[in-house]
Amino acid sequence: MKGVILAGGVGARLNPLTEITNKHLLTVGKEPMIWHPIRQMVLCGIQEILVVTSTHHMGDIVNSLGSGRRFGCHFTYKVQEEAGGIAQALALAERFAESQPILVLLGDNIFEHSIAEHVAAFRKQKKGARVLLKEVGDPERFGIAALDEKHVISIEEKPKQPKSNYAVVGCYMYDRGVFEIIRAVKPSKRGELEITDVNNAYIKKRSLKFGFVKGRWTDAGTFESLIEANELLLSIDNRIMDG
Ligand code: G1P
Repeated sequence: MKGVILAGGVGARLNPLTEITNKHLLTVGKEPMIWHPIRQMVLCGIQEILVVTSTHHMGDIVNSLGSGRRFGCHFTYKVQEEAGGIAQALALAERFAESQPILVLLGDNIFEHSIAEHVAAFRKQKKGARVLLKEVGDPERFGIAALDEKHVISIEEKPKQPKSNYAVVGCYMYDRGVFEIIRAVKPSKRGELEITDVNNAYIKKRSLKFGFVKGRWTDAGTFESLIEANELLLSIDNRIMDG
């Protein structure tokens, strides 16, 4: 299994902080933001990691991460030239993945606990996809899952009238079929290839499984959530707790 960290975009919601550096290098607790998803992947036993960034201060990202030696992994870098959405960024990972299953983490998602147990469940699953859900107070900001007793039956991106409070967080596990699926995805109203459409395609094939995030979780892409992410990681000294 290989890892893909999606750290594109210009961090417009965090202006002026992002005028001088890449959003994913802003401090969260005692470390740069992107170090967290890297540490999560290494804890899952993943050592081959692709980092997809925009050109926006991307040199700073390479300066911070280097080869991966200090984290116990090996980095490959790719550039997403335009802001075409999460699924478009993921499409850049096709050759890197070499038909292996992949763990995808968004570079601004922070988890209190290790996600290793979910990755272990996906390794057993062998086929299809797996997403993680977390109950949130502001569902209009996320991809939101509608559930029956056992399944995710649909996911809606930033719904005006959310069908639940369960956000699909920025942690996705996919089999090799994901790139074929992305090729069939059409741009959304905001002109982006949405990861939610990729996940809905797996739902259609009845091959999307899910788990619930243990402990606290937040993204860090707005001032409010960046403060929350800082409080979260400071309170555990940036040490990810067992899953
Ligand atoms: C993205 C995804 C959304 C997901 C969220 C998690 O939203 O599109 O489905 O719930 O990440 O952080 P964005 O942060 O791009 O608004």
